[in-house]
Amino acid sequence: MSLLDVSGVTVRFGGHMALHDVALSVVPGRIVGLIGPNGAGKTTMFNVITGLQEPTTGKVAFNGIDITGFKPHDRAQRGIARTFQRLELFGSLTVEENLLVAGEVRRTFGEHSASAADRTTEAMATVGIEHPADIRADNLSTGQARLVELARALVTRPKLLLLDEPASGLDADETTTFAALLQRLVRSGIGILLVEHDVPLVMSVCTHIHVLDFGELIARGTPDEVQRDPRVIEAYLGTPAEAAS
Ligand SMILES: Nc1ncnc2c1ncn2[C@@H]1O[C@H](COP(=O)(O)OP(=O)(O)O)[C@@H](O)[C@H]1O
Ligand SMILES: [Mg+2]
Repeated sequence: MSLLDVSGVTVRFGGHMALHDVALSVVPGRIVGLIGPNGAGKTTMFNVITGLQEPTTGKVAFNGIDITGFKPHDRAQRGIARTFQRLELFGSLTVEENLLVAGEVRRTFGEHSASAADRTTEAMATVGIEHPADIRADNLSTGQARLVELARALVTRPKLLLLDEPASGLDADETTTFAALLQRLVRSGIGILLVEHDVPLVMSVCTHIHVLDFGELIARGTPDEVQRDPRVIEAYLGTPAEAAS
């Protein structure tokens, strides 16, 4: 069964259609890509899934339950977590404090009997944060800050993780490490929806990819299918010759 099922989602901002009749789904244990040019509607889709943006029409189902009208905190408690395109750590708090805050937000609901402190330690170990956890977040490099943001999402022990351009600002080595980390995460059974402009990264870790352009879902399929799709090449990927020039 799908973890996440989005169907017929349209979002209108005044006269502007940010999303038009978009459907997508994520199954547990897989990384699904959501790609497309800037302004295509990717972040808007994340806002619809997390409850920050009410869709004009359409439905969001999570674990078979229609959550379309649910508040963001309710969705978080059910197991949906996200990271933000612009890093949104609290700069004046330490790494550990940033994670503890997230851990407290999701209070223990039976199945999560571990304390916020335990989940913080566990999340830092998962992402491999090596430096002391008492460093202030505004002293981190971009690569470290991206890992802390991921750890902060993991503190809630999500079933579905939405990552908005998580590799932006990472160097080649950090990106390789990050790809391996994502693959380890889904092996534990969670589902990931990945928005990312690093096309080689997306193609290497995703089993399925959705492509948005001007709010329209123009393609969906395996990395191979999507990379060969003329509409996707035209709207986003470009031809190999264009990419080389
Ligand atoms: N709150 C908003 N009000 C009006 N327009 C918005 C709002 N949020 C996004 N948009 C517009 O919707 C479109 C999709 O934006 P966005 O989802 O951020 O795209 P992406 O993440 O794919 O770059 C853009 O044209 C953007 O300017
Ligand atoms: Mg965006």
